[in-house]
Amino acid sequence: MPKVGSSEYLQNRERLLVSSISSSLLFISKQAGHKITKTEMQMKIESLRELFIDELKDLYSAENQIIKALPKMIKNATSDELRSAFEEHLEQTKVQVERLDQIFEDLDESPRGKKCKGMEGLLEEGKEMMEEDMEDEVLDAALIAAAQRVEHYEIAGYGTVRTYAEQLGLDDAVKLLEETLEEEKETDQKLTSIAESVNVEAEEAGEEEEEDVA
Ligand SMILES: [Fe+2]
Repeated sequence: MPKVGSSEYLQNRERLLVSSISSSLLFISKQAGHKITKTEMQMKIESLRELFIDELKDLYSAENQIIKALPKMIKNATSDELRSAFEEHLEQTKVQVERLDQIFEDLDESPRGKKCKGMEGLLEEGKEMMEEDMEDEVLDAALIAAAQRVEHYEIAGYGTVRTYAEQLGLDDAVKLLEETLEEEKETDQKLTSIAESVNVEAEEAGEEEEEDVA
């Protein structure tokens, strides 16, 4: 018996856990009348390629949700600089979806079948914020806050799939995912620099309001 807590002990436990999960899933699928072999079921849990495809589907859904959400953010932005940053990012996002399409095509997989609930939640929060009564300049600051949350979520997602693609030796996918990852990072930095002036304007708008009241 390996010592409790040793790496051998942990590896054994992991192996046992995976095999018990796959036996349970096999049992469930048999009950449901599906003809899935034990090997196929283990592939679903154990293969990095499967996880890679799953994460890519998540990003595909996230990007398409962003494409739908950005026009409203563009409409609500007051700062010209912010509006044009959103407009540019909308066009960029369409190309990012094309890159994902290319990866799915190369892997002979479908991009459909998953909804990114994380992005759904982030965009829902952004939508709620736009419905609040705010000074234009303050809303700009709030839009940047929402957009940067989106960017950070995407940076995490693309960083992960890029690393998986490297591990799987999928060089073309690594290249495409890295291009998108760099764009997301640049967008995040651009938003940080726009925030520098927008936040000052938001603060000044608040001060003017106070003076009006006084
Ligand atoms: Fe994106």
